[in-house]
Order: sequence, then C-alpha cells, then structure tokens
Amino acid sequence: MTAVDTGLAPVATTTSPEIALGFDYDVAIVGLGYVGLPTALAYHAAGSRVLALDASSARLTDITAGRADLLETDRVRLGGALRDRSFRLTDDIALLSSAAAIVVCVPTPVDHQLVPDLSLLRAACATVVAAVRAGQTVMLTSTSYVGCTHDLIEQPLRDRGFVIGRDVFVAFSAERIDPGNTGFAQEDVPRVVGGATLECEEEGARLLSRYVSRVHHVSSLAAAEMTKLLENTFRAVNIALANEFAEICSALDVPVTEVIDAASTKPYGFMPFYPGPGVGGHCIPCDPHYLLWQLRALRVDARVITEAMSGISARPGHVVDRVREVLGRAGIGTTGSRVVVVGVTYKPDVADLRESPAIEIIEALADLGVDVQYLDSRVPSLRLASGTVLTSLDEPGEVVPDLVLIHTRHADADLSWLAEAGVVLDATYRSADIAGRVLV
Ligand SMILES: NC(=O)c1ccc[n+]([C@@H]2O[C@H](COP(=O)([O-])OP(=O)(O)OC[C@H]3O[C@@H](n4cnc5c(N)ncnc54)[C@H](O)[C@@H]3O)[C@@H](O)[C@H]2O)c1
Repeated sequence: MTAVDTGLAPVATTTSPEIALGFDYDVAIVGLGYVGLPTALAYHAAGSRVLALDASSARLTDITAGRADLLETDRVRLGGALRDRSFRLTDDIALLSSAAAIVVCVPTPVDHQLVPDLSLLRAACATVVAAVRAGQTVMLTSTSYVGCTHDLIEQPLRDRGFVIGRDVFVAFSAERIDPGNTGFAQEDVPRVVGGATLECEEEGARLLSRYVSRVHHVSSLAAAEMTKLLENTFRAVNIALANEFAEICSALDVPVTEVIDAASTKPYGFMPFYPGPGVGGHCIPCDPHYLLWQLRALRVDARVITEAMSGISARPGHVVDRVREVLGRAGIGTTGSRVVVVGVTYKPDVADLRESPAIEIIEALADLGVDVQYLDSRVPSLRLASGTVLTSLDEPGEVVPDLVLIHTRHADADLSWLAEAGVVLDATYRSADIAGRVLV
C-alpha cells in the first residue's frame, strides 16, 4: 500500500452477485491515464465499487492532488470519488484479486521506427494474469494488434489451468473516449465487445453495462480488436486525404474549407475531415502502425494505409516548408527570424503533448536557425529532443514576431491580438476570423 492509497476499507453498498462471490470491488481499472481515470470515475459514478490502480506513484500523487488533465465533469467526479469509501486509489497489485472484474487500460505506443511498443501492455497483462482467481472477468481496452487479447491474456490464463468461459472470462472492448471533447458523455458512446467464448462476451457486456448505455456485440475477440483498428485507420486515411486536398486546393487556388463545408451538406456518403498541421496523441499516429506491423509479418500489402501514414508523417515538414516560403515572400530570411507558435498540444482543449506535430515543427524551425517561441496556457514548458526546454510566453505582446503559426486553437484562447500580428500562418484551417491569415 502506498502513501496515496486512500486506505479506506471498501463498503458493500449493493447485493450484487460479485459480493456473493466474495469480491470487495466490482471493477479494478489498471492504468489511470487519459482513458483509465475517466473510466474508473464513470464506473464509480454509476454506483460500482472501484479499485483504481496505477503503477506510477507520481501519477497517483497527481490524481490525489487534482492535477490530472480532466474534463470539468470528471474533475467534479474525482473530487467526490476521493472522498468516497467505494473508490480506492492504489498501486497495490495484490488487491487485484479482490475485484470481480479487471479492466486493462495501459498505453500502447510505437517506437521511433514506428514499431508497436508492447512492453507496458505485456507487463500489465502478466501482472493481471498472475493475480486472477476463479470467477473474475478480465477485459482489455487498450488498442492493440489482432490476437493480442488471446496472446497476452486468454492463453496465459489457459496455461494457468483455468477453463475460459467457465472459471474466468476474457473480453476485449476498445475505449472510444475522446479527451477534451465535451460533446459526448462517456456513458453515451456505444461500446463494442467480443469475448473468448460466448459466456465471456456476455460477461464483458455485463461489465460494460454497469456504466455504458449501449453495447454492440461481435463474434470474437479478434473482431472487436479489428473494429478499433478500422475506426482509427479510417480517421488516419481521411485526415491524410484532407491534407492532400488542402494542397490540391492550394495549387488550384480554391478555398479548401469552403469546399469541405459545401460537401458536408450532402446528407449521406460524406463525412467531413479537415486538414491540419499533422496528427498527434496516442491514437491516430500509433494505431494504424499496429495493423501495418502485423500485416508486414503476414506479407499482406496495405498500400492505402501505408501511403496515408507516410503522408501524415510528412505533414509537419510541409508546415515548416510553408513557414519558410511565407517568410521568404515577406522578404524575411529564415535564419534569425522570429516565429511564435500558438497552441502546441496535439488538439484543442487538452494539455496532452504526446506526438504533437508542434514539437517536430518547433525542432525543425530551431534547426533552421529560427528564434522559435510558443504560447499555450495549457503547456507551461516543453522539452525538445535536443534537451532544450522552452517556456510558454505569458502574453502575446512579449515578442514582436515575424510570423505567427496557429497550430492549435483552444476554445478559451483569446486570439484577437493576431489582428495586429502581421504574417499569420493558419495550420488549423479554422481561423477565418483572423483577417489576412494565410493557410498552410
Ligand atoms: N488517449 C486517448 O485519446 C485514447 C482514446 C481511446 C483509446 N486509447 C487507448 O487507451 C490506452 C491507454 O491510453 P492512455 O492515453 O490512457 O494512456 P496514458 O499514457 O494516458 O496512461 C496510461 C497509464 O497507465 C499506467 N501504467 C502503465 N503500465 C502500467 C501497469 N503495468 N500497471 C498499472 N498502470 C500502468 C501509466 O502509469 C499511466 O498512468 C492505449 O491503448 C490507447 O491507445 C487512448
């Protein structure tokens, strides 16, 4: 038990079947990141007794101190949960066997060669498998390759002697949470579930139904895993297409956002995607590579996805090229010029810098001798690969830039000062209110 373990004895508040089986908690969430923490809070808000487990004591300390990057609704939930005896925050893996169900929600990133880094997921699954006892349901919610739940959970549990679907239950249901998005409550977003057996699928659905209003069943773990890969590959391919269309429209001198908005009036067969500076976060830049990695081993060619991911990787470089071009047109040389990047997170209204194109853009501009600064109220400082640490400008007026690059536009950011800022390059394509802005 750690210093941040709330240490309160769990209290039985219902007469659920789990209590009959002697479980102290209805659900344990393993990994309390951008996805796991809101999930733990959603279960708790729906009346479940929750064991919220993270391997990082620093993360647990931040959560206890209210320093997690959460929507306001989740922040309120966290305040209530931390005062409630039916929500226990811990890093004590011995407690996992006291939960009726265990939900694994740890990161699945890619390495510098864009190869899946499964080390955290393997470690978490090994911990869970070793802790499992009869009667428990284990659900994987991390995005991963097809067959992962079988390889890391189902087979190791069989190897321990459990009969799957009778002694223990194994399911997969990818998270669909969209951090920073207030438009969709987590409870209202349907979830897709697949099980190792029909009984597992039903137990998985029962677990999700504790807080989710709609569960869609598929016939296998693999179908559920592949569903998530399709969802995020679909987004990646369409974002790559939108970026390409932006370049095509620029070459033909047609306003791309006007075209996308016009196409969006079609009530079927079209879904709008917008161009931008690139993609970031833990999903779009990573998940399709889990699929491509698996397909390479099978010698299956996936040309459309491969091309899309190449286009996405090249996008920050294109933004840098445009900065140089626009500076050049204004008669300003790149070296020694002053550029301010507005918004550095990978998307609006979060503090998440993971895989943010802004980092690559800032590093490339700095390598070209540009004096780069940034302004982002959600990111007080950021570290570049060189080790250099930049701190956010407090106010726009602190420097007089030669060019301002709008990279991310938070809903609460006041950009009225850009009217006087001179050359403004808009990588968001959403800043039509800034007079004279130039599109990437
Ligand atoms: N962030 C998103 O927008 C999003 C959306 C949908 C799905 N997902 C998927 O959800 C999964 C989790 O992503 P995330 O963004 O929440 O990650 P994250 O990096 O925000 O948090 C993961 C947490 O897991 C903890 N952890 C790592 N190993 C652990 C272990 N062995 N035991 C206990 N805790 C451990 C870390 O300390 C960290 O706090 C990934 O597979 C991701 O692809 C993410």
